[in-house]
Amino acid sequence: MQKLQQLYEGKAKKVYATEDPNVVIVSYKDDATAFNGQKKGTITGKGAINNRMTNNLMRRLEAAGVPTHYIQELNDRETAVKKVSIIPLEVIVRNISAGSFAKRYGVAEGIVFDEPTFEFSYKNDDLGDPLINTSHALALKLATREEIDLIHTYTMQVNDLLKGFLKEIGIDLVDFKLEFGKTAGGQIVLADEISPDTCRLWDEKTHEKLDKDRFRRDMGGAEEAYEEVMRRLMGEL
Ligand code: TMP
Repeated sequence: MQKLQQLYEGKAKKVYATEDPNVVIVSYKDDATAFNGQKKGTITGKGAINNRMTNNLMRRLEAAGVPTHYIQELNDRETAVKKVSIIPLEVIVRNISAGSFAKRYGVAEGIVFDEPTFEFSYKNDDLGDPLINTSHALALKLATREEIDLIHTYTMQVNDLLKGFLKEIGIDLVDFKLEFGKTAGGQIVLADEISPDTCRLWDEKTHEKLDKDRFRRDMGGAEEAYEEVMRRLMGEL
Protein backbone atom coordinates (compact mmCIF):
# COMPACT_ATOMS: atom_id res chain seq x y z
CA MET A 1 0.00 0.00 0.00
CA GLN A 2 1.41 3.35 -1.11
CA LYS A 3 1.52 6.36 1.28
CA LEU A 4 0.45 9.50 -0.61
CA GLN A 5 0.00 13.04 0.69
CA GLN A 6 -0.40 13.82 4.39
CA LEU A 7 -4.03 14.63 5.17
CA TYR A 8 -3.76 15.52 8.82
CA GLU A 9 -1.36 15.74 11.73
CA GLY A 10 -2.68 15.28 15.25
CA LYS A 11 -0.86 15.31 18.58
CA ALA A 12 0.12 11.64 18.45
CA LYS A 13 -0.49 10.51 14.86
CA LYS A 14 -0.29 11.55 11.23
CA VAL A 15 -2.78 10.42 8.59
CA TYR A 16 -1.89 9.87 4.92
CA ALA A 17 -4.00 9.30 1.82
CA THR A 18 -3.60 6.15 -0.28
CA GLU A 19 -4.63 5.31 -3.86
CA ASP A 20 -7.88 3.97 -2.39
CA PRO A 21 -10.23 6.85 -1.40
CA ASN A 22 -11.71 4.64 1.33
CA VAL A 23 -8.37 3.76 2.94
CA VAL A 24 -5.89 5.94 4.88
CA ILE A 25 -2.61 5.14 6.60
CA VAL A 26 -2.09 6.22 10.22
CA SER A 27 1.46 6.76 11.41
CA TYR A 28 2.05 6.81 15.17
CA LYS A 29 4.52 9.35 16.64
CA ASP A 30 6.59 9.22 19.82
CA ASP A 31 5.32 12.73 20.68
CA ALA A 32 3.38 12.95 23.91
CA THR A 33 1.18 15.83 25.05
CA ALA A 34 -1.04 16.42 28.03
CA PHE A 35 -3.42 19.08 29.31
CA ASN A 36 -4.67 19.95 25.83
CA GLY A 37 -1.18 20.21 24.39
CA GLN A 38 0.23 22.55 27.08
CA LYS A 39 2.71 19.90 28.20
CA LYS A 40 4.86 18.42 25.45
CA GLY A 41 7.45 15.67 25.42
CA THR A 42 8.58 12.43 23.89
CA ILE A 43 8.08 8.87 25.05
CA THR A 44 10.70 6.99 23.04
CA GLY A 45 9.28 3.91 21.36
CA LYS A 46 5.67 4.86 22.14
CA GLY A 47 4.58 5.14 18.50
CA ALA A 48 5.50 1.56 17.68
CA ILE A 49 4.01 0.21 20.93
CA ASN A 50 0.72 2.11 20.53
CA ASN A 51 0.44 1.00 16.90
CA ARG A 52 1.00 -2.68 17.65
CA MET A 53 -1.07 -2.70 20.85
CA THR A 54 -4.01 -0.94 19.18
CA ASN A 55 -3.95 -3.39 16.28
CA ASN A 56 -3.73 -6.42 18.55
CA LEU A 57 -6.77 -5.23 20.54
CA MET A 58 -8.78 -4.06 17.51
CA ARG A 59 -8.33 -7.43 15.81
CA ARG A 60 -9.64 -9.18 18.92
CA LEU A 61 -12.55 -6.75 19.32
CA GLU A 62 -13.49 -7.17 15.67
CA ALA A 63 -13.42 -10.98 16.07
CA ALA A 64 -15.78 -10.57 19.03
CA GLY A 65 -18.26 -8.59 16.93
CA VAL A 66 -17.31 -4.92 17.42
CA PRO A 67 -16.81 -3.23 14.02
CA THR A 68 -13.52 -1.31 13.81
CA HIS A 69 -11.62 0.77 11.26
CA TYR A 70 -8.67 -1.68 11.28
CA ILE A 71 -7.52 -3.12 7.94
CA GLN A 72 -3.84 -4.10 8.04
CA GLU A 73 -0.64 -3.41 9.99
CA LEU A 74 1.98 -2.19 7.49
CA ASN A 75 5.04 -1.84 9.71
CA ASP A 76 6.02 -1.00 13.31
CA ARG A 77 4.44 2.45 13.24
CA GLU A 78 1.97 2.41 10.36
CA THR A 79 -1.42 0.83 9.78
CA ALA A 80 -3.99 0.94 6.98
CA VAL A 81 -7.45 1.77 8.28
CA LYS A 82 -10.83 2.58 6.77
CA LYS A 83 -11.26 6.26 6.06
CA VAL A 84 -13.90 7.61 8.42
CA SER A 85 -15.23 10.94 9.55
CA ILE A 86 -14.56 11.02 13.26
CA ILE A 87 -17.62 11.69 15.42
CA PRO A 88 -16.44 14.56 17.64
CA LEU A 89 -17.24 12.80 20.91
CA GLU A 90 -14.58 11.32 23.18
CA VAL A 91 -16.29 8.36 24.80
CA ILE A 92 -14.97 7.69 28.30
CA VAL A 93 -15.67 4.66 30.47
CA ARG A 94 -14.50 4.33 34.06
CA ASN A 95 -14.34 1.18 36.16
CA ILE A 96 -12.27 2.67 39.01
CA SER A 97 -12.06 6.32 40.15
CA ALA A 98 -9.07 8.28 38.85
CA GLY A 99 -8.10 11.40 36.93
CA SER A 100 -10.73 14.03 36.23
CA PHE A 101 -13.47 11.97 37.94
CA ALA A 102 -11.57 11.93 41.25
CA LYS A 103 -10.78 15.64 40.89
CA ARG A 104 -14.28 16.77 39.82
CA TYR A 105 -16.11 14.91 42.58
CA GLY A 106 -13.46 15.25 45.29
CA VAL A 107 -12.90 11.53 45.84
CA ALA A 108 -9.79 9.37 46.13
CA GLU A 109 -8.40 7.43 43.19
CA GLY A 110 -8.88 3.66 43.32
CA ILE A 111 -12.56 3.33 44.31
CA VAL A 112 -13.91 0.32 42.39
CA PHE A 113 -17.35 1.12 40.95
CA ASP A 114 -20.27 -1.34 41.09
CA GLU A 115 -21.03 -0.46 37.46
CA PRO A 116 -18.94 1.28 34.83
CA THR A 117 -19.60 5.00 34.25
CA PHE A 118 -20.14 6.38 30.74
CA GLU A 119 -19.52 9.94 29.61
CA PHE A 120 -18.75 12.03 26.57
CA SER A 121 -16.37 14.93 26.05
CA TYR A 122 -16.93 17.21 23.09
CA LYS A 123 -13.79 16.70 20.95
CA ASN A 124 -12.84 20.33 20.42
CA ASP A 125 -9.34 21.51 21.35
CA ASP A 126 -10.30 25.21 21.24
CA LEU A 127 -12.84 24.55 24.00
CA GLY A 128 -10.59 22.12 25.92
CA ASP A 129 -12.75 19.02 25.22
CA PRO A 130 -15.57 19.91 27.67
CA LEU A 131 -17.81 17.29 29.25
CA ILE A 132 -21.07 17.05 27.26
CA ASN A 133 -24.30 15.10 27.68
CA THR A 134 -26.43 13.30 25.09
CA SER A 135 -29.05 16.04 24.73
CA HIS A 136 -26.33 18.63 24.13
CA ALA A 137 -24.61 16.36 21.58
CA LEU A 138 -27.99 15.96 19.81
CA ALA A 139 -28.64 19.73 19.93
CA LEU A 140 -25.23 20.34 18.36
CA LYS A 141 -25.93 17.59 15.78
CA LEU A 142 -22.66 15.85 16.62
CA ALA A 143 -24.41 12.50 16.05
CA THR A 144 -27.95 11.12 15.76
CA ARG A 145 -29.74 9.37 18.62
CA GLU A 146 -29.38 6.05 16.78
CA GLU A 147 -25.63 6.61 16.41
CA ILE A 148 -25.28 7.52 20.09
CA ASP A 149 -27.22 4.40 21.10
CA LEU A 150 -24.95 2.25 18.91
CA ILE A 151 -21.83 3.93 20.30
CA HIS A 152 -23.07 3.21 23.83
CA THR A 153 -23.72 -0.45 23.00
CA TYR A 154 -20.32 -0.94 21.32
CA THR A 155 -18.51 0.90 24.10
CA MET A 156 -19.97 -1.30 26.83
CA GLN A 157 -19.03 -4.39 24.80
CA VAL A 158 -15.50 -3.00 24.39
CA ASN A 159 -15.26 -2.42 28.15
CA ASP A 160 -16.22 -6.01 28.97
CA LEU A 161 -13.85 -7.44 26.35
CA LEU A 162 -10.89 -5.18 27.16
CA LYS A 163 -11.25 -5.77 30.91
CA GLY A 164 -11.00 -9.50 30.18
CA PHE A 165 -8.03 -9.24 27.80
CA LEU A 166 -6.12 -7.10 30.30
CA LYS A 167 -7.01 -9.18 33.37
CA GLU A 168 -5.34 -12.15 31.64
CA ILE A 169 -2.08 -10.19 31.75
CA GLY A 170 -2.45 -8.92 35.32
CA ILE A 171 -3.71 -5.43 34.48
CA ASP A 172 -6.78 -3.63 35.82
CA LEU A 173 -8.52 -1.41 33.26
CA VAL A 174 -9.20 1.73 35.32
CA ASP A 175 -10.66 3.92 32.55
CA PHE A 176 -10.27 4.63 28.86
CA LYS A 177 -11.29 6.84 25.97
CA LEU A 178 -12.66 5.67 22.61
CA GLU A 179 -13.44 7.48 19.39
CA PHE A 180 -15.86 6.30 16.73
CA GLY A 181 -16.05 7.19 13.06
CA LYS A 182 -18.48 6.91 10.20
CA THR A 183 -17.38 5.16 6.99
CA ALA A 184 -18.28 6.38 3.51
CA GLY A 185 -21.06 3.76 3.63
CA GLY A 186 -22.45 5.25 6.85
CA GLN A 187 -21.33 2.45 9.19
CA ILE A 188 -20.28 3.41 12.73
CA VAL A 189 -16.93 1.79 13.57
CA LEU A 190 -14.46 1.99 16.42
CA ALA A 191 -11.55 4.22 15.32
CA ASP A 192 -8.47 5.99 16.76
CA GLU A 193 -6.35 3.96 19.19
CA ILE A 194 -6.44 1.85 22.35
CA SER A 195 -3.12 2.27 24.12
CA PRO A 196 -1.48 3.46 27.34
CA ASP A 197 -2.06 6.99 25.94
CA THR A 198 -5.82 6.50 26.03
CA CYS A 199 -6.31 4.03 28.90
CA ARG A 200 -5.38 4.01 32.57
CA LEU A 201 -3.78 0.65 33.25
CA TRP A 202 -2.78 -0.43 36.78
CA ASP A 203 -0.91 -3.55 37.74
CA GLU A 204 -3.55 -5.67 39.51
CA LYS A 205 -1.27 -6.52 42.45
CA THR A 206 0.97 -3.50 43.01
CA HIS A 207 -1.40 -0.88 41.47
CA GLU A 208 1.64 0.53 39.70
CA LYS A 209 0.61 2.90 36.90
CA LEU A 210 1.43 1.46 33.47
CA ASP A 211 0.16 4.33 31.32
CA LYS A 212 0.51 7.96 30.26
CA ASP A 213 -0.17 9.25 33.80
CA ARG A 214 3.57 8.63 34.35
CA PHE A 215 4.19 11.37 31.76
CA ARG A 216 1.27 13.61 32.76
CA ARG A 217 2.37 13.55 36.42
CA ASP A 218 6.16 13.61 35.85
CA MET A 219 6.55 10.27 37.63
CA GLY A 220 9.32 8.97 35.36
CA GLY A 221 9.45 5.49 33.88
CA ALA A 222 6.93 6.11 31.08
CA GLU A 223 9.00 4.23 28.46
CA GLU A 224 9.41 1.26 30.79
CA ALA A 225 5.68 1.22 31.60
CA TYR A 226 4.67 1.17 27.90
CA GLU A 227 7.24 -1.58 27.26
CA GLU A 228 5.91 -3.60 30.18
CA VAL A 229 2.32 -3.48 28.85
CA MET A 230 3.57 -4.46 25.38
CA ARG A 231 5.67 -7.32 26.78
CA ARG A 232 2.71 -8.72 28.73
CA LEU A 233 0.32 -8.34 25.79
CA MET A 234 2.52 -9.65 23.00
CA GLY A 235 5.06 -11.68 24.99
CA GLU A 236 7.83 -9.70 23.27
CA LEU A 237 8.91 -6.23 22.23
P1 TMP B 1 -9.64 11.88 32.54
O1 TMP B 1 -9.70 11.21 33.88
O2 TMP B 1 -8.52 12.88 32.43
O3 TMP B 1 -10.96 12.44 32.13
O4 TMP B 1 -9.28 10.74 31.47
C1 TMP B 1 -10.11 9.61 31.31
C2 TMP B 1 -9.47 8.65 30.33
O5 TMP B 1 -9.41 9.21 29.03
C3 TMP B 1 -8.04 8.26 30.67
O6 TMP B 1 -7.89 6.86 30.45
C4 TMP B 1 -7.18 9.02 29.71
C5 TMP B 1 -8.08 9.23 28.52
N1 TMP B 1 -7.87 10.51 27.88
C6 TMP B 1 -7.51 10.55 26.53
O7 TMP B 1 -7.35 9.51 25.89
N2 TMP B 1 -7.35 11.77 25.94
C7 TMP B 1 -7.51 12.94 26.60
O8 TMP B 1 -7.34 14.01 26.02
C8 TMP B 1 -7.89 12.88 27.99
C9 TMP B 1 -8.10 14.14 28.78
C10 TMP B 1 -8.06 11.65 28.57
